[in-house]
Amino acid sequence: MVKSLKIITYPNPNLRLKGRPLTQEEIISPETKQFVNELSKKMLKEDGLGLAATQVDRQFRVFVINTPDGVQEFINPEITYRSWLKEKGEEGCLSVPGIFDYVKRHRKIKIKYFNLLGEQKILKARKMLARVIQHEYDHLDGILFIDKLAKK
Ligand code: CO
Repeated sequence: MVKSLKIITYPNPNLRLKGRPLTQEEIISPETKQFVNELSKKMLKEDGLGLAATQVDRQFRVFVINTPDGVQEFINPEITYRSWLKEKGEEGCLSVPGIFDYVKRHRKIKIKYFNLLGEQKILKARKMLARVIQHEYDHLDGILFIDKLAKK
């Protein structure tokens, strides 16, 4: 039985820890499936657009996103393309409650990742979805959106 997940908030120093990649064996394990399921439920319950493992104090390279097509898990993600063009947009974070501010993000990205079946996938994302993915991706490296606020 896994302990129920709790979101840690700024300035908890553990938010600065990096996630480690899962092994191929771990990716397809029942434990990972259960963890991703709990992480998804937590994100939906808290009305977040995304949630990273590092935000619930688990140092794994895993995050979930609430996409227009449902919840999608990204395991061992790697952003393989970033458009030259950036766009400013407002962001918030479940780990930084009460703060909403503007961040410049790449307008388009391409991301390579594994799903729970251990399949490697590639997703092209733009605008809002690209923004959410970049925000969650940063969490895996201990980076928060408040570290990179855009000049107004
Ligand atoms: Co966040």
